[in-house]
Amino acid sequence: MRKIVAGNWKMNKTYAEALDLTLALDLYCNSNIRSEVIIFPPAIYLHSLEKALKNKKLQLGAQNCADQLWGAYTGEVSIDMLQSIGIKHTLIGHSERRSLYKENNDLIAQKVRLAFQQKIQFILCIGETLQERENGLFSSVIQNQINSAVKNLSGIQELYIAYEPVWAIGTGKTATTTEIEEAHAFIKKYTSDLVHLDFSKIHVLYGGSCNEKNALDILSAKGVDGVLVGGASLQAESFKTIIQAAETCIQK
Ligand code: PGA
Repeated sequence: MRKIVAGNWKMNKTYAEALDLTLALDLYCNSNIRSEVIIFPPAIYLHSLEKALKNKKLQLGAQNCADQLWGAYTGEVSIDMLQSIGIKHTLIGHSERRSLYKENNDLIAQKVRLAFQQKIQFILCIGETLQERENGLFSSVIQNQINSAVKNLSGIQELYIAYEPVWAIGTGKTATTTEIEEAHAFIKKYTSDLVHLDFSKIHVLYGGSCNEKNALDILSAKGVDGVLVGGASLQAESFKTIIQAAETCIQK
């Protein structure tokens, strides 16, 4: 069984703090750790943090990438730039990018298309708002987000999707195990039909107020291949406890 533990640091930490946390996790993620651990620090730190890693186990990713390769796009960071400093992962379409920076499904689809073409491993983030859930729009919102992003990726071999209900992000309100299992089953079935991939090639992570207390329950839920953690990934101790929960699931 494979488990992915991803930590999205968002816009937090000075460089000194980022280095401390990275080195603590680097030390912890030695060869005994079987989970795939990926941290997503602010882009400005990635180059130095990548160079500071001693073990090969802890991986680094970007929280976002540009929808264009090069050129006059002030403030953007391209996939080529990330790859040129050894970064192999990026998040795409995080709900904060969607809501605060107005990234719509078309823009996210363009980023996904580029990421696929440039062969950087991307985690497509999707999820419904509380209002959408209450209005019975869960399936149509999720279908639209997946369909627009991945329908034209012909020949894709593996997909990583983070299911993050918007109402659970940073709120302390986690989806119930039943809600998570239903959502993950729905996402896997829909995606598998769409891109003709086996369930085992569609990795769905849960995100939204995952912490050291609930991680074991979430990671043990059916169809959960990993977690995308925000707040609880900012401290070494809580994030290590979540990695340990993933290890427990692997050993079961
Ligand atoms: P949270 O954030 O764990 O703080 O809810 C998750 C995310 O936004 O990826």
